[in-house]
Amino acid sequence: MAEKEAPASAQAQGDGKLRKQIQFADQQFEFQRRPTKKGHRSLSRSISQSSTDSYSSAASYSDSSEDEMTPREKRCGEARVHEDFCVKNIGQSGFGRREVEIAQQEMPALMALRKRAQGDKPLAGATIVGCTHITAQSAVLIETLIALGAQCRWAACNIFSTQNEVAAALAAVGIPVFAWKGESEDDFWWCIDRCVCADGWQPNMILDDGGDLTHWMYRKHSEVFKKVKGIVEESVTGVHRLYQLSKAGKLCVPAMNVNDSVTKQKFDNLYSCRESILDGLKRTTDIMFGGKQVVVCGYGEVGKGCCAALKGLGAVICVTEVDPICALQACMDGCRVVKLNEVIRQVDIIISCTGNKNVVTREQLDRVKNGVIICNMGHSNTEIDVASLRAPDLTWERVRSQVDHVIWPDGKRVLLLAEGRLLNLSCSSVPSFVLSITATTQALALIELYNAPEGRYKQDVYLLPKKMDEYVASLHLPSFDAHLTELNEEQAKYLGINKNGPFKPNYYRY
Ligand SMILES: NC(=O)c1ccc[n+]([C@@H]2O[C@H](COP(=O)([O-])OP(=O)(O)OC[C@H]3O[C@@H](n4cnc5c(N)ncnc54)[C@H](O)[C@@H]3O)[C@@H](O)[C@H]2O)c1
Repeated sequence: MAEKEAPASAQAQGDGKLRKQIQFADQQFEFQRRPTKKGHRSLSRSISQSSTDSYSSAASYSDSSEDEMTPREKRCGEARVHEDFCVKNIGQSGFGRREVEIAQQEMPALMALRKRAQGDKPLAGATIVGCTHITAQSAVLIETLIALGAQCRWAACNIFSTQNEVAAALAAVGIPVFAWKGESEDDFWWCIDRCVCADGWQPNMILDDGGDLTHWMYRKHSEVFKKVKGIVEESVTGVHRLYQLSKAGKLCVPAMNVNDSVTKQKFDNLYSCRESILDGLKRTTDIMFGGKQVVVCGYGEVGKGCCAALKGLGAVICVTEVDPICALQACMDGCRVVKLNEVIRQVDIIISCTGNKNVVTREQLDRVKNGVIICNMGHSNTEIDVASLRAPDLTWERVRSQVDHVIWPDGKRVLLLAEGRLLNLSCSSVPSFVLSITATTQALALIELYNAPEGRYKQDVYLLPKKMDEYVASLHLPSFDAHLTELNEEQAKYLGINKNGPFKPNYYRY
């Protein structure tokens, strides 16, 4: 079904009501105003799929002790059964706190939101149950929501991604966190359940990443939805599930799709990949890029980011495309547009980023030269036909973590990275700044849904109002000492827009 824009009332020129909701005690930081210099980073998570994906968005302090007992089993002991958290080792909280402090430096918008909330607390009374990756960056988000007045209970959306020390740091300051790295499937649902149900606790907002929390609440605690004012969902899969619920007429509260907000999309696809492609390749192969011949399959947002980064280091770039518009863009950006078969024998690196399947086939891999590096930046692990490489005539040799040599009978070796899964999510880190964009978008979506007057949002899925999307971006500008030009009345009238935004129509392509 078509995505719903936020209702006109929320986008209204001047946005009186909206502004009021986001207005904080410190008038200098009023929603409508530009931040001044003073203000100073998906996967689906269904337990059947990404809740079991390995994820390495942040360095994780490793536990030296390989405990036999799980945190959940340990907590069953009489002395600890009353603890309102369940983490691997609360003694790691000091390390976690330092990780959180580092992340705070690269998450300027959330820190600015906290300052604004010193007096007026736009989430006062909100009881938020959350299910996201538990990393230093999400800790900054959770603590921001609390600074904005909310009470939170949090579980992990992925059984491998929890930074144990960060979970400990949150628990140490009294935040009910139920998560540890390496949860079993049963633990995963138990942790979610502990967050939904607790004595004297009734959630009224949901922040989900992958839809598992929402799904669990629908199946096990549907009565809780009577008090819930809205769902904020980040992932492609979670959003897809919400649209399915809405289509079936089963969505019983308003939901905000933050995955498709412009600022977040640009950062997740273009800018984040521009940074992390090099990191992923360097960490796994120690390669020097200058003069290397690279073919990038797909010149969409991700492909553009990869090409820009590689070009900057002197690589020679070819692009494959099916879409003439994107192909022409690649030409304008100085790339050769080719069919993969034309360059397959010469290239040193093959990167797929099409979102499509079987873009690089076994037949093509039979023809690459010795030592070629092959990786994927697209969502699915079927862009490169890895299954065809698991054939009896080929030998696999693990070189290092996430790096395999696939060896042909004649001795030719190909370096396959991350077994064809997303290179950057498997082998590199997502910059905190990218996560700052997402987290700020989530925080504003929660504020909007929580404060929206009755009737503004129906039982449907909405995009974040454009004005708030612009606000997410503007909150990040002061860290670059960027100075926005202001429209005067005459110019605004000439363009037919409000001088304070939104500045672009919803169909505008950035
Ligand atoms: N690695 C990451 O961190 C990350 C971040 C965001 C998105 N993604 C994923 O990366 C993929 C691409 O995302 P995007 O935003 O660039 O999408 P996009 O639609 O903007 O770009 C994909 C491009 O691939 C082209 N294409 C499709 N089939 C092709 C084929 N057989 N050969 C050559 N080109 C082909 C399309 O015409 C399109 O231009 C998606 O699967 C997306 O989910 C990855």
